[in-house]
Amino acid sequence: MSSTAYTVNRCICHNRTFAEIKDLMKQHDVTTFEEVLAKDWCGGNCGLCRPYVAQMIQSGQTSFPIGGSAHS
Ligand code: FES
Repeated sequence: MSSTAYTVNRCICHNRTFAEIKDLMKQHDVTTFEEVLAKDWCGGNCGLCRPYVAQMIQSGQTSFPIGGSAHS
């Protein structure tokens, strides 16, 4: 059984999950990272979520493991 110690699935500053942002994008017909930032749905404060949001837009994934490979 493998476990993921940490998972990134939200913008902490805006308290909004990537799944919620994905839904908002659909509802508002938003397709680009720049538009998401312009809407201020996430990424406007510390910016740590930005690479994940960009990846979410590209891949559709809404949660990401931190730290890559962990010891099993
Ligand atoms: S976690 Fe998204 S701006 Fe800080």
